[in-house]
Amino acid sequence: MSKLIFLDNGATSFPKPEEVYRYMDHFYRNFGVNPGRSGYDLCMEAGLVVEETRKLLTDFFNGTDPNRLCFGYNSTDALNLIIFGMLRPGDHAVSTTLEHNSVLRPLYHLSQEGVDVDLVPFDGRGFVDPGEIRKKFRPNTRLVIVNHASNVIGTVQPVAEIGRLCRAAGIPFAIDASQSAGKVPVDMEAQSLDVVAFTGHKSLLGPTGIGGLCVREGIDIRLTRAGGTGVRSAVPTHLEEYPYRLEYGTPNVMGIAGLKAGVTWLTGKGLEKVHAEEMRLAGILLEGLRAIPRIILYCLDSLENHIAVLAFNIDGLDAADVGTMLDVDFGIACRTGLHCAPRVHEQLGTDKIHGAVRFGIGPFNTEDDVRAAVAAVGKIASLPARKR
Ligand SMILES: Cc1ncc(COP(=O)(O)O)c(C=O)c1O
Repeated sequence: MSKLIFLDNGATSFPKPEEVYRYMDHFYRNFGVNPGRSGYDLCMEAGLVVEETRKLLTDFFNGTDPNRLCFGYNSTDALNLIIFGMLRPGDHAVSTTLEHNSVLRPLYHLSQEGVDVDLVPFDGRGFVDPGEIRKKFRPNTRLVIVNHASNVIGTVQPVAEIGRLCRAAGIPFAIDASQSAGKVPVDMEAQSLDVVAFTGHKSLLGPTGIGGLCVREGIDIRLTRAGGTGVRSAVPTHLEEYPYRLEYGTPNVMGIAGLKAGVTWLTGKGLEKVHAEEMRLAGILLEGLRAIPRIILYCLDSLENHIAVLAFNIDGLDAADVGTMLDVDFGIACRTGLHCAPRVHEQLGTDKIHGAVRFGIGPFNTEDDVRAAVAAVGKIASLPARKR
Protein backbone atom coordinates (compact mmCIF):
# COMPACT_ATOMS: atom_id res chain seq x y z
CA MET A 1 0.00 0.00 0.00
CA SER A 2 1.30 3.46 -0.84
CA LYS A 3 1.22 6.23 1.74
CA LEU A 4 -1.88 6.80 3.83
CA ILE A 5 -3.95 9.78 2.75
CA PHE A 6 -5.26 11.25 5.96
CA LEU A 7 -8.52 13.10 5.42
CA ASP A 8 -9.82 12.73 8.95
CA ASN A 9 -8.50 16.02 10.26
CA GLY A 10 -11.97 16.84 11.59
CA ALA A 11 -11.41 14.12 14.20
CA THR A 12 -7.85 15.15 15.00
CA SER A 13 -5.05 16.76 13.05
CA PHE A 14 -2.44 14.30 11.81
CA PRO A 15 0.44 14.53 11.44
CA LYS A 16 1.46 17.37 13.73
CA PRO A 17 4.20 19.80 12.74
CA GLU A 18 7.67 18.32 13.37
CA GLU A 19 8.22 21.18 15.82
CA VAL A 20 5.46 19.79 18.05
CA TYR A 21 7.00 16.31 18.28
CA ARG A 22 10.46 17.76 18.87
CA TYR A 23 9.40 20.25 21.52
CA MET A 24 7.32 17.69 23.41
CA ASP A 25 10.26 15.29 23.48
CA HIS A 26 12.65 18.04 24.60
CA PHE A 27 10.23 19.39 27.19
CA TYR A 28 9.31 16.08 28.77
CA ARG A 29 12.90 14.82 28.93
CA ASN A 30 14.15 18.02 30.51
CA PHE A 31 11.26 19.61 32.38
CA GLY A 32 8.61 16.90 32.79
CA VAL A 33 7.92 17.59 36.47
CA ASN A 34 4.80 18.74 38.30
CA PRO A 35 4.66 22.48 37.48
CA GLY A 36 4.16 25.16 40.07
CA ARG A 37 4.07 22.69 43.00
CA SER A 38 7.54 23.41 44.39
CA GLY A 39 10.29 26.00 44.21
CA TYR A 40 13.13 24.02 42.62
CA ASP A 41 14.36 25.13 39.22
CA LEU A 42 12.83 22.37 37.12
CA CYS A 43 9.46 22.96 38.67
CA MET A 44 9.71 26.68 38.04
CA GLU A 45 10.74 26.08 34.41
CA ALA A 46 7.80 23.75 33.82
CA GLY A 47 5.49 26.28 35.47
CA LEU A 48 6.84 28.97 33.18
CA VAL A 49 5.87 26.97 30.09
CA VAL A 50 2.36 26.58 31.48
CA GLU A 51 2.08 30.33 32.09
CA GLU A 52 3.57 31.18 28.68
CA THR A 53 1.02 28.92 27.01
CA ARG A 54 -1.80 30.54 28.99
CA LYS A 55 -0.68 33.92 27.68
CA LEU A 56 -0.20 32.60 24.12
CA LEU A 57 -3.75 31.24 24.00
CA THR A 58 -5.28 34.27 25.72
CA ASP A 59 -3.73 36.42 23.00
CA PHE A 60 -4.79 33.93 20.34
CA PHE A 61 -8.44 34.30 21.44
CA ASN A 62 -8.00 38.02 22.14
CA GLY A 63 -8.96 37.52 25.76
CA THR A 64 -7.82 39.98 28.40
CA ASP A 65 -6.63 38.02 31.43
CA PRO A 66 -4.33 34.98 31.05
CA ASN A 67 -5.46 33.78 34.49
CA ARG A 68 -8.87 33.23 32.97
CA LEU A 69 -7.44 30.78 30.47
CA CYS A 70 -7.93 27.44 32.23
CA PHE A 71 -6.52 24.15 31.04
CA GLY A 72 -8.43 20.88 31.04
CA TYR A 73 -8.34 17.68 28.99
CA ASN A 74 -10.23 18.71 25.85
CA SER A 75 -13.28 20.69 24.81
CA THR A 76 -15.68 18.07 26.18
CA ASP A 77 -14.19 18.70 29.60
CA ALA A 78 -14.43 22.48 29.15
CA LEU A 79 -18.00 22.31 27.83
CA ASN A 80 -19.06 20.23 30.83
CA LEU A 81 -17.55 22.82 33.20
CA ILE A 82 -19.40 25.60 31.36
CA ILE A 83 -22.78 23.91 31.08
CA PHE A 84 -22.93 22.37 34.56
CA GLY A 85 -21.32 25.47 36.09
CA MET A 86 -23.61 28.07 34.51
CA LEU A 87 -27.05 26.46 34.59
CA ARG A 88 -29.30 25.46 37.49
CA PRO A 89 -32.79 23.95 37.66
CA GLY A 90 -35.33 26.58 36.57
CA ASP A 91 -32.90 28.18 34.08
CA HIS A 92 -33.30 28.27 30.32
CA ALA A 93 -30.58 27.71 27.73
CA VAL A 94 -30.48 28.27 23.97
CA SER A 95 -28.32 26.17 21.68
CA THR A 96 -28.53 24.73 18.17
CA THR A 97 -29.09 21.45 16.37
CA LEU A 98 -25.53 21.76 15.04
CA GLU A 99 -24.08 20.82 18.40
CA HIS A 100 -21.75 17.94 19.13
CA ASN A 101 -22.73 15.52 21.89
CA SER A 102 -20.28 17.31 24.17
CA VAL A 103 -22.89 20.07 24.33
CA LEU A 104 -26.07 18.08 23.62
CA ARG A 105 -25.52 15.47 26.31
CA PRO A 106 -24.73 17.82 29.21
CA LEU A 107 -27.78 19.88 28.18
CA TYR A 108 -29.88 16.74 27.98
CA HIS A 109 -28.80 15.64 31.47
CA LEU A 110 -29.67 19.08 32.83
CA SER A 111 -33.03 19.05 31.06
CA GLN A 112 -33.82 15.98 33.18
CA GLU A 113 -33.18 18.14 36.24
CA GLY A 114 -35.39 21.10 35.34
CA VAL A 115 -33.31 23.18 32.92
CA ASP A 116 -35.31 24.19 29.82
CA VAL A 117 -33.40 23.92 26.56
CA ASP A 118 -34.24 25.29 23.12
CA LEU A 119 -32.28 24.01 20.13
CA VAL A 120 -32.48 26.32 17.13
CA PRO A 121 -32.27 24.48 13.77
CA PHE A 122 -29.93 25.46 10.94
CA ASP A 123 -31.23 26.48 7.52
CA GLY A 124 -30.86 24.57 4.24
CA ARG A 125 -27.37 26.01 3.74
CA GLY A 126 -26.20 24.96 7.19
CA PHE A 127 -26.39 28.28 9.05
CA VAL A 128 -28.24 29.33 12.16
CA ASP A 129 -30.12 32.62 11.92
CA PRO A 130 -29.11 34.88 14.85
CA GLY A 131 -32.63 36.34 14.77
CA GLU A 132 -34.04 32.85 15.50
CA ILE A 133 -31.74 32.57 18.50
CA ARG A 134 -32.85 36.01 19.68
CA LYS A 135 -36.51 34.94 19.45
CA LYS A 136 -35.85 32.22 22.05
CA PHE A 137 -34.56 34.59 24.75
CA ARG A 138 -36.59 34.54 27.98
CA PRO A 139 -36.18 36.34 31.30
CA ASN A 140 -34.62 33.17 32.74
CA THR A 141 -32.23 32.48 29.82
CA ARG A 142 -28.83 32.02 31.48
CA LEU A 143 -26.72 30.69 28.64
CA VAL A 144 -26.52 30.69 24.84
CA ILE A 145 -24.06 28.11 23.58
CA VAL A 146 -23.27 27.65 19.90
CA ASN A 147 -21.02 25.45 17.80
CA HIS A 148 -18.77 27.89 15.93
CA ALA A 149 -17.83 25.54 13.08
CA SER A 150 -19.72 22.34 12.37
CA ASN A 151 -17.78 19.09 12.56
CA VAL A 152 -20.20 17.55 10.05
CA ILE A 153 -21.03 20.12 7.38
CA GLY A 154 -18.20 22.59 8.02
CA THR A 155 -20.30 25.75 8.17
CA VAL A 156 -19.04 28.64 10.32
CA GLN A 157 -21.78 30.33 12.32
CA PRO A 158 -22.19 34.11 12.56
CA VAL A 159 -21.02 34.22 16.17
CA ALA A 160 -20.24 37.95 16.19
CA GLU A 161 -23.88 38.71 15.40
CA ILE A 162 -25.14 36.18 17.97
CA GLY A 163 -22.67 37.61 20.50
CA ARG A 164 -23.94 41.14 19.89
CA LEU A 165 -27.54 40.03 20.51
CA CYS A 166 -26.57 38.15 23.69
CA ARG A 167 -24.52 41.08 25.03
CA ALA A 168 -27.43 43.47 24.40
CA ALA A 169 -29.75 41.14 26.32
CA GLY A 170 -27.23 40.53 29.14
CA ILE A 171 -27.11 36.77 28.47
CA PRO A 172 -23.75 34.95 28.69
CA PHE A 173 -22.61 33.60 25.33
CA ALA A 174 -20.30 30.60 25.02
CA ILE A 175 -18.95 28.98 21.88
CA ASP A 176 -17.68 25.52 21.15
CA ALA A 177 -14.55 26.37 19.18
CA SER A 178 -13.40 22.76 18.80
CA GLN A 179 -13.40 22.93 15.01
CA SER A 180 -12.91 26.65 14.50
CA ALA A 181 -9.94 27.45 16.76
CA GLY A 182 -6.90 27.34 14.51
CA LYS A 183 -8.93 27.70 11.32
CA VAL A 184 -10.88 30.95 11.54
CA PRO A 185 -10.54 33.86 13.97
CA VAL A 186 -11.95 33.34 17.45
CA ASP A 187 -11.91 36.84 18.91
CA MET A 188 -13.50 37.32 22.32
CA GLU A 189 -13.54 41.09 21.96
CA ALA A 190 -14.70 41.52 18.36
CA GLN A 191 -17.19 38.65 18.51
CA SER A 192 -18.57 39.48 22.00
CA LEU A 193 -17.71 36.02 23.32
CA ASP A 194 -18.00 35.38 27.05
CA VAL A 195 -16.60 31.86 27.13
CA VAL A 196 -14.61 29.91 24.54
CA ALA A 197 -14.16 26.14 24.84
CA PHE A 198 -11.25 24.72 22.83
CA THR A 199 -9.54 21.43 22.25
CA GLY A 200 -5.81 21.21 21.63
CA HIS A 201 -5.55 18.26 19.27
CA LYS A 202 -7.48 19.47 16.24
CA SER A 203 -6.54 22.64 14.35
CA LEU A 204 -4.42 24.03 17.19
CA LEU A 205 -2.10 21.16 16.23
CA GLY A 206 -1.26 20.01 19.74
CA PRO A 207 -1.57 16.47 21.15
CA THR A 208 -4.70 14.80 22.52
CA GLY A 209 -5.58 15.22 26.19
CA ILE A 210 -5.23 18.99 26.36
CA GLY A 211 -7.87 21.68 25.93
CA GLY A 212 -9.61 24.22 28.07
CA LEU A 213 -11.64 27.38 28.24
CA CYS A 214 -11.16 31.11 28.22
CA VAL A 215 -13.58 33.05 30.41
CA ARG A 216 -14.22 36.78 30.12
CA GLU A 217 -13.97 38.91 33.27
CA GLY A 218 -17.37 39.37 34.86
CA ILE A 219 -18.53 35.86 33.89
CA ASP A 220 -18.48 33.34 36.67
CA ILE A 221 -18.63 29.62 36.37
CA ARG A 222 -19.65 27.77 39.56
CA LEU A 223 -17.36 25.17 41.03
CA THR A 224 -18.55 21.72 40.03
CA ARG A 225 -15.41 19.83 41.06
CA ALA A 226 -12.80 20.16 43.76
CA GLY A 227 -9.29 18.92 44.36
CA GLY A 228 -5.64 19.77 44.50
CA THR A 229 -4.39 23.06 43.06
CA GLY A 230 -0.79 22.95 44.29
CA VAL A 231 -1.22 26.15 46.29
CA ARG A 232 -2.83 26.98 49.68
CA SER A 233 -3.34 23.34 50.54
CA ALA A 234 -4.73 24.09 54.00
CA VAL A 235 -7.89 25.70 52.59
CA PRO A 236 -10.67 23.09 52.91
CA THR A 237 -12.56 24.17 49.76
CA HIS A 238 -11.45 24.40 46.16
CA LEU A 239 -9.93 27.80 45.37
CA GLU A 240 -12.37 30.34 43.94
CA GLU A 241 -9.89 32.39 41.94
CA TYR A 242 -8.92 31.76 38.34
CA PRO A 243 -7.23 29.78 36.92
CA TYR A 244 -7.36 27.36 39.91
CA ARG A 245 -11.14 27.66 40.01
CA LEU A 246 -11.47 25.59 36.85
CA GLU A 247 -8.30 23.48 37.07
CA TYR A 248 -8.17 20.30 39.10
CA GLY A 249 -5.18 18.12 39.89
CA THR A 250 -1.90 17.76 38.06
CA PRO A 251 -2.17 19.42 34.65
CA ASN A 252 -1.24 17.70 31.42
CA VAL A 253 2.02 19.56 31.26
CA MET A 254 3.32 17.56 28.30
CA GLY A 255 0.08 18.39 26.45
CA ILE A 256 0.42 22.06 27.32
CA ALA A 257 3.96 22.08 25.93
CA GLY A 258 2.78 20.41 22.72
CA LEU A 259 -0.09 22.88 22.42
CA LYS A 260 2.35 25.74 22.83
CA ALA A 261 4.45 24.37 19.97
CA GLY A 262 1.34 23.79 17.79
CA VAL A 263 -0.05 27.30 18.25
CA THR A 264 3.42 28.81 17.78
CA TRP A 265 3.80 26.91 14.50
CA LEU A 266 0.36 28.04 13.34
CA THR A 267 0.81 31.70 14.21
CA GLY A 268 4.27 31.62 12.65
CA LYS A 269 2.83 30.37 9.35
CA GLY A 270 -0.18 32.67 9.62
CA LEU A 271 -3.61 31.28 10.41
CA GLU A 272 -5.17 32.98 7.39
CA LYS A 273 -2.59 31.55 5.03
CA VAL A 274 -2.94 28.00 6.37
CA HIS A 275 -6.72 28.21 6.20
CA ALA A 276 -6.68 29.70 2.68
CA GLU A 277 -4.62 26.75 1.43
CA GLU A 278 -6.96 24.24 3.09
CA MET A 279 -9.93 25.99 1.46
CA ARG A 280 -8.20 25.92 -1.93
CA LEU A 281 -7.89 22.14 -1.56
CA ALA A 282 -11.49 21.96 -0.35
CA GLY A 283 -12.52 23.78 -3.54
CA ILE A 284 -10.74 21.19 -5.72
CA LEU A 285 -12.29 18.38 -3.69
CA LEU A 286 -15.77 19.87 -3.93
CA GLU A 287 -15.52 20.49 -7.66
CA GLY A 288 -14.39 16.91 -8.20
CA LEU A 289 -17.12 15.43 -6.00
CA ARG A 290 -19.81 17.55 -7.70
CA ALA A 291 -18.93 15.99 -11.05
CA ILE A 292 -19.53 12.43 -9.80
CA PRO A 293 -22.94 10.98 -10.60
CA ARG A 294 -24.95 9.77 -7.54
CA ILE A 295 -23.06 12.03 -5.16
CA ILE A 296 -25.14 13.75 -2.49
CA LEU A 297 -23.43 16.75 -0.90
CA TYR A 298 -24.62 18.33 2.35
CA CYS A 299 -24.79 22.13 2.71
CA LEU A 300 -22.12 22.62 0.08
CA ASP A 301 -23.69 25.07 -2.37
CA SER A 302 -20.72 27.28 -1.64
CA LEU A 303 -17.59 27.20 0.52
CA GLU A 304 -18.14 30.70 1.83
CA ASN A 305 -18.07 30.77 5.65
CA HIS A 306 -16.84 27.20 5.75
CA ILE A 307 -13.93 25.28 7.14
CA ALA A 308 -12.45 22.47 5.06
CA VAL A 309 -14.84 19.80 6.34
CA LEU A 310 -17.13 18.24 3.71
CA ALA A 311 -19.88 15.66 4.14
CA PHE A 312 -21.38 13.54 1.39
CA ASN A 313 -23.00 10.24 0.49
CA ILE A 314 -23.15 8.13 -2.63
CA ASP A 315 -26.75 7.41 -3.43
CA GLY A 316 -27.49 3.71 -2.88
CA LEU A 317 -24.36 2.97 -0.84
CA ASP A 318 -23.98 2.89 2.92
CA ALA A 319 -21.63 5.55 4.32
CA ALA A 320 -19.80 2.97 6.43
CA ASP A 321 -19.21 0.78 3.34
CA VAL A 322 -17.86 3.75 1.42
CA GLY A 323 -15.53 4.53 4.34
CA THR A 324 -14.28 0.94 4.44
CA MET A 325 -13.62 0.91 0.70
CA LEU A 326 -11.79 4.24 0.89
CA ASP A 327 -9.63 2.79 3.63
CA VAL A 328 -9.01 -0.74 2.39
CA ASP A 329 -8.92 -0.21 -1.37
CA PHE A 330 -7.50 3.31 -1.60
CA GLY A 331 -5.61 3.96 1.65
CA ILE A 332 -7.74 7.00 2.47
CA ALA A 333 -8.70 7.66 6.10
CA CYS A 334 -11.97 9.52 6.69
CA ARG A 335 -14.84 9.40 9.18
CA THR A 336 -18.30 7.98 8.58
CA GLY A 337 -21.42 7.69 10.72
CA LEU A 338 -23.14 10.33 12.85
CA HIS A 339 -19.96 12.19 13.90
CA CYS A 340 -21.22 12.58 17.52
CA ALA A 341 -23.72 15.13 16.16
CA PRO A 342 -26.99 13.20 15.89
CA ARG A 343 -29.24 16.25 15.52
CA VAL A 344 -27.35 17.41 12.43
CA HIS A 345 -27.96 14.07 10.77
CA GLU A 346 -31.57 14.05 11.93
CA GLN A 347 -32.08 17.38 10.20
CA LEU A 348 -30.28 16.25 7.05
CA GLY A 349 -32.27 13.00 7.05
CA THR A 350 -29.02 11.03 7.07
CA ASP A 351 -29.73 9.49 10.47
CA LYS A 352 -31.78 6.84 8.65
CA ILE A 353 -28.93 5.86 6.34
CA HIS A 354 -26.15 5.55 8.90
CA GLY A 355 -24.91 9.11 8.54
CA ALA A 356 -22.50 10.38 5.93
CA VAL A 357 -18.89 10.26 4.81
CA ARG A 358 -16.75 13.18 6.03
CA PHE A 359 -13.48 14.46 4.63
CA GLY A 360 -11.51 16.90 6.79
CA ILE A 361 -8.52 18.65 5.26
CA GLY A 362 -5.52 19.66 7.37
CA PRO A 363 -2.37 21.74 6.90
CA PHE A 364 -0.34 18.79 5.62
CA ASN A 365 -2.72 17.66 2.90
CA THR A 366 -1.75 18.24 -0.70
CA GLU A 367 -3.48 18.68 -4.04
CA ASP A 368 -2.49 15.08 -4.87
CA ASP A 369 -4.35 13.91 -1.74
CA VAL A 370 -7.63 15.55 -2.71
CA ARG A 371 -7.36 14.51 -6.36
CA ALA A 372 -6.78 10.91 -5.21
CA ALA A 373 -9.85 11.17 -2.96
CA VAL A 374 -12.00 12.40 -5.85
CA ALA A 375 -10.76 9.56 -8.07
CA ALA A 376 -11.45 6.98 -5.34
CA VAL A 377 -14.97 8.27 -4.67
CA GLY A 378 -15.60 8.24 -8.44
CA LYS A 379 -14.59 4.57 -8.66
CA ILE A 380 -16.72 3.63 -5.65
CA ALA A 381 -19.68 5.53 -7.12
CA SER A 382 -19.48 3.42 -10.26
CA LEU A 383 -20.35 0.32 -8.20
CA PRO A 384 -23.96 -0.85 -8.25
CA ALA A 385 -26.25 0.45 -5.52
CA ARG A 386 -26.88 -1.92 -2.60
CA LYS A 387 -30.30 -2.73 -1.21
CA ARG A 388 -30.69 -1.22 2.24
C1 LIG B 1 -17.71 20.52 17.23
C2 LIG B 1 -17.04 19.64 18.24
N1 LIG B 1 -17.28 19.84 19.54
C3 LIG B 1 -16.69 19.09 20.48
C4 LIG B 1 -15.83 18.09 20.15
C5 LIG B 1 -15.19 17.28 21.24
O1 LIG B 1 -13.81 17.42 21.20
P1 LIG B 1 -12.92 16.57 22.22
O2 LIG B 1 -13.23 15.13 21.91
O3 LIG B 1 -11.53 16.94 21.90
O4 LIG B 1 -13.37 16.94 23.57
C6 LIG B 1 -15.56 17.82 18.81
C7 LIG B 1 -14.70 16.68 18.42
O5 LIG B 1 -14.91 16.04 17.44
C8 LIG B 1 -16.18 18.63 17.84
O6 LIG B 1 -15.94 18.43 16.54
